[in-house]
Amino acid sequence: MIKQIILSFFIFTSFVFASSEVNVYSHRHYDTDKQLYKMFEEKMGIKVNVVNADANALIKRLESEGEKSPADVLITVDAGRLYQAKSKELIQSIESKYLMEVVPENMRDEDNKWFALTKRVRAFIVPIDSNIEIKTYEDLIKPEYKKMIMVRSSNHVYNQSMLAAVIAHHGEEYALKWAQGVVKNMARKPRGNDRYQVKAVANGIGKIAIANTYYVGKMIGNKDIAESEAVKKVKIIFPKFENGGTHINVSGAGVAKYAPNKENAIKFIEFLLSPEAQDLFANGNFEYPVAKGVKKNDVVSSWGTFEEDNISINTMGKYNINAVKIFDKAGWK
Ligand SMILES: [Fe+2]
Repeated sequence: MIKQIILSFFIFTSFVFASSEVNVYSHRHYDTDKQLYKMFEEKMGIKVNVVNADANALIKRLESEGEKSPADVLITVDAGRLYQAKSKELIQSIESKYLMEVVPENMRDEDNKWFALTKRVRAFIVPIDSNIEIKTYEDLIKPEYKKMIMVRSSNHVYNQSMLAAVIAHHGEEYALKWAQGVVKNMARKPRGNDRYQVKAVANGIGKIAIANTYYVGKMIGNKDIAESEAVKKVKIIFPKFENGGTHINVSGAGVAKYAPNKENAIKFIEFLLSPEAQDLFANGNFEYPVAKGVKKNDVVSSWGTFEEDNISINTMGKYNINAVKIFDKAGWK
């Protein structure tokens, strides 16, 4: 009898515990996200447990954990890794009327295995007083931009997705020529993150940085004076592809295949696409919101408008391996 009571108590508590938490594997590394977890916990009474790591590491972890994985949600900072998680069958289709309603068709997987949370734009950052009139990504390899370009390492997904877009537009042969041309025009070997490149523009080390625009927003008024001062000395140019638009990527989320708390996982992703969460992504992290009807941040709007590139988001995943190989061949460190 006592044994039975203990057993049923155990089953009951484990049920209550399991139904009131969500385990998130996330590559997003921004303060806004911590705020969002708190908001979700307070609103829903569901505890958010987070494992933060690079998406490659998270995908490997999901693979090795298999059916025993505690993960409910996978969040990445680029489309390529969402594609990979889907190809490896690490995420599952979900049903959500709300998500279907608010997430535009090109911002979600065709089998509903992932949904974009935010859009990000990879643009050029130049000195505020410069008269550089570079208009396209293809222009980066023109001789007139010799010793001007600064960009992070090719190990990073942001660059891999950008090169995947070059492949999508022009094929692999041109992509190699392009990558070699960019390397030739670099002001220095790739190092540091996107903010590091923005600071280097302000400090006159090079004249064109390739970076995601939300970092410019995050540097404005930053406690780190080196950042807040540097950002006053730069401006953004939204380049386009010759036959397309400006390169965009997405940060997105999917429900893990073996999610122990699937319902909570769906609630969590729905919350991240709610107007209040989308507002915070837009105003706290200067990203472009995905959910229909949510406005951009005012500072972001002041940077100007652009036409989004026309290649499908999945392309970045499809050509990722090709892009990595081309970077190696081109000597882009
Ligand atoms: Fe980032």
